[in-house]
Amino acid sequence: MSEGKNRQWILHARPAGALTGDEFHWNEAPIPRPADGQVLVRNLWLSFDPTQRNWMARDSYVPKIPLGEVMRAISVGQVIESRHPHFKPGELVQGTFGWQDYLATDGHGVIGVRKLPPGVPPNLALSLFGITGLTAYFGMTDVGRIKSGETVVVSGAAGSTGSVAGQIAKIEGCRVIGTAGGREKCDWLVNAAHFDAAIDYKSEDIGTRLSALCPDGIDVFFDNVGGVVLNEVLARINLKARIVLCGAISRYNDAVPPPGPANYFNLTSKRARMEGFIILDYAPRFPEAIDALGRWQRDGRLVQKEDVAVGLENAPRTLMRLFTGENFGKQLLKIADPPLA
Ligand SMILES: NC(=O)c1ccc[n+]([C@@H]2O[C@H](COP(=O)([O-])OP(=O)(O)OC[C@H]3O[C@@H](n4cnc5c(N)ncnc54)[C@H](OP(=O)(O)O)[C@@H]3O)[C@@H](O)[C@H]2O)c1
Repeated sequence: MSEGKNRQWILHARPAGALTGDEFHWNEAPIPRPADGQVLVRNLWLSFDPTQRNWMARDSYVPKIPLGEVMRAISVGQVIESRHPHFKPGELVQGTFGWQDYLATDGHGVIGVRKLPPGVPPNLALSLFGITGLTAYFGMTDVGRIKSGETVVVSGAAGSTGSVAGQIAKIEGCRVIGTAGGREKCDWLVNAAHFDAAIDYKSEDIGTRLSALCPDGIDVFFDNVGGVVLNEVLARINLKARIVLCGAISRYNDAVPPPGPANYFNLTSKRARMEGFIILDYAPRFPEAIDALGRWQRDGRLVQKEDVAVGLENAPRTLMRLFTGENFGKQLLKIADPPLA
């Protein structure tokens, strides 16, 4: 942790294709002073999310990050100084604090500043109880409406969202097949996350393997990837199937959107539903999800794998890992340990 200055990564250029790191510029600024109604937060842990690539490029469910501003990121920090009635120095808080050491904030942001539940460590607040765990929960239960006995397929299954989504479907009594890149991830899905089967999309033919593993068709598809896997699943859906459009990471680097899935018309003949969602809309119900996820984790029925990088200087390189599949589980970065209370 650097004393006396605020180290920052500034968004300097919009991405074109795969991230190179040249989109960011290192800056050192004075530590900000909180105004009336603000808190000074010292950033401790950063969350890395594929949607950050979208925030850099274009307006979507939130406005794009303006060039010249600190790179936007969800993180956990500690209140150092407070001129806000709801926060005290020493408290751990979560918010959109960005790629920097310090932030003076009035509590607003893509996610508003929230205190961490007592006893929840920063890494868990950003992984299982963070955006990806919550997305898995509401995507599977609310959008996917899984029922015991159904066949569920999850793409990006060894990632942060996908691994939790698949385990929730297992807990609810479904048969679950995941797709992931590489043997190590596929073995982990079956042996540690208790999926029924995993398909290595990098070395196996997805369509052939889906036909073999889902002879009675697919009831629910939780899609993190889009592209080929979405099209192959659409060819095998059952009557009244639900396709949960969580993300489409295979196309986030594309400047021009690829053609839509050729098999989309199966949605009509199968009277099926394909629905997107954004987790921020579920904020009022986050406590319900945190309660269920925590219970399953304590009971040993749900594991969350984390992949932890260290050092703010490594933030750009760490974001790139999501798009190469180098991350194995929730990608986090530790900037600093919390000081003692
Ligand atoms: N709708 C929402 O509100 C919401 C909220 C959170 C996340 N999401 C979405 O959920 C998805 C997963 O996010 P996450 O944070 O949990 O990340 P993650 O799955 O932990 O990491 C990203 C993974 O994507 C896979 N990947 C990268 N490029 C790929 C490609 N071209 N084809 C296939 N797989 C590729 C890699 O795994 P492999 O090694 O297996 O390739 C990589 O590990 C993303 O699409 C994200 O945008 C949506």
